[in-house]
Amino acid sequence: MNIGVFDSGLGGLSVFREIMTELPQYNYIYLGDNARVPYGGRSSDMIYQFTRDAVNFLFQNDCQLIIIACNTSSAIALQRLQQEYLPQNYRDRRILGVLYPVAEHIADENIQRVGIMATRATVASNRYPKQIKKLAPNTQIFQVACPLLTPMIEEDEMEWEGFDLLLQRYINPLLERKIDGLILGSTHYGLITDRVKKHVPGSVKIISQGEVTAKKLRKYLKRHPEIEMKLAKDSKRIYFATDLNQRFEKLTKLFLGERFSKGVTLHLANI
Ligand code: DGL
Repeated sequence: MNIGVFDSGLGGLSVFREIMTELPQYNYIYLGDNARVPYGGRSSDMIYQFTRDAVNFLFQNDCQLIIIACNTSSAIALQRLQQEYLPQNYRDRRILGVLYPVAEHIADENIQRVGIMATRATVASNRYPKQIKKLAPNTQIFQVACPLLTPMIEEDEMEWEGFDLLLQRYINPLLERKIDGLILGSTHYGLITDRVKKHVPGSVKIISQGEVTAKKLRKYLKRHPEIEMKLAKDSKRIYFATDLNQRFEKLTKLFLGERFSKGVTLHLANI
């Protein structure tokens, strides 16, 4: 059986890269719904339906466990999938998201005042604050929706000075709140960690979900040998996307990096 990794697009490849680095032995299937990306401005119903379609596809392709690398899907759809969809359809399989590992990390690191940058839908769902407060009730949390970052990153405009102005516009209100930790709460933002660092004091811990998710996944598999023993360990990877458009090669390289993007072929998924 495989581990499935899902994202609304190809940005999740930056999370997948960290998972493959941490746990190279398993067989993975990546699915990016790049035909319908971005999810971040869509309604909750739409995000749930799209995520359910994706999860269905991955389970039909023999995934024992699915990591939803997309923050928006994790925030809006994960709980309902775990509570309604799984018991009705795949009792013995599992779906995990990125919000819980990040919340656990905030609690572990004892971060007191947390800033969150995320999509509109993730911010509106209030899921990050809820999840963090469950584990660390005294934490103060401040959120900013950053709708312009995803298109800018996908257009590879990160070196442009206008990008710094945009970052400041999103980050400054958080800095005014005297944050000591900053969650980069979208798959795409892993790519701009260094850029963000330029605009925040060194004392602010920047939390990029790829690494955190990968480390927590290792611990999860240790705690759940009944899942782990079902996983194939031939280091195979298969990549699916819902649209094989012109840009996928460039974006694959951007998000997977040189090392992992060599020889990658994307297959079309009809979900
Ligand atoms: N993958 C999304 C997330 O992590 C960002 C892109 C989108 O809006 O679909 O929230």
